[in-house]
Amino acid sequence: MAESFALKTGARIPSIGLGTGLTEPNDVDNAIYAAVKAGYRHIDCAPAYHNEKEIGLALKKLFEEGVVKREDLFITSKLWCGDHAPEDVEEAIGATLKDLQLEFLDLFLIHGPIRIKKGTTMGPENFLPPDIPATWGAMEKLYDSGKARAIGVSNFSCKKLEDLLAIARVPPAVNQVECHLVWQQDKLRKLCQSRGVHLSAFSPLGSPGTSGVNGAGVLRNTIVISVAEKLQKTPAQIALRWGLQMGQSVLPKSSNEARIKENFDIFSWSIPEDLMPAFSDIKQVKLLRGELAVHPLSVYKTFEDLWDGEI
Ligand code: A2P
Repeated sequence: MAESFALKTGARIPSIGLGTGLTEPNDVDNAIYAAVKAGYRHIDCAPAYHNEKEIGLALKKLFEEGVVKREDLFITSKLWCGDHAPEDVEEAIGATLKDLQLEFLDLFLIHGPIRIKKGTTMGPENFLPPDIPATWGAMEKLYDSGKARAIGVSNFSCKKLEDLLAIARVPPAVNQVECHLVWQQDKLRKLCQSRGVHLSAFSPLGSPGTSGVNGAGVLRNTIVISVAEKLQKTPAQIALRWGLQMGQSVLPKSSNEARIKENFDIFSWSIPEDLMPAFSDIKQVKLLRGELAVHPLSVYKTFEDLWDGEI
């Protein structure tokens, strides 16, 4: 069984989850099946990934075959940017639960501090100013109802997280953000640790499969490769194990069975403490900057606006 981290709700979040953001609907069945068989107990989903129905079918099959029980799994999903209006939030989780064929989520996150008109796609003509306190109020109701056993946010800067913490009745349990050896998020990690918010890392391998991203940044980094050679591990395993040792859960995506297994083999060994400082020398670059949200018609005119100067 994988290690896990405590959430402030009292629940535990498995320290590795399968990311599903790049997985084609046709591949998702195999990926979920391979992951659960390999020992993964956390699946990170979102309606924005257009594969929740297929994930639901895969989960149903796993439950029916008795491979795993619902209570053994930790399922995360997210509120899409078009569903921020408080009156749309319950319907949005309802659609996700229906697609996933579940009664509740273990964690439901606001996908980002970005709002668009309901039913539209991300584009200049569709931007609306977010009202996070109003959306959060509706998220708190989902927590009260038990449909979401924990609630949190994603893609929140330190400033946005602090603003939310200042007004929340139910504080966010998690901030899921881009976090890897090339974007280590030291400031956000410290804030999260001091405020009891669990940091969950998406793109922990630097997202080599995302178009426009130079994934070579993490897996081909010379420092990562030299530590991997010393410990006889792969660069991906070093990248993931570093995340665990920093106290964050990691959400690597893969639809390849061998790599799904490789990425899970990070519990029986550790990076010795004396090798950890070497990672501080890695040049820091945010690889996923949120291009689609930045526009003269958006509330975020620049990347500095979106990330509050924290890039
Ligand atoms: P694949 O699905 O072919 O395995 P991230 O989680 O940082 O966004 O990275 C996901 C990308 O990394 C996917 O393109 C995935 O491709 C690839 N990937 C996943 N695991 C590994 C691994 N162990 N080694 C190399 N590439 C990997």
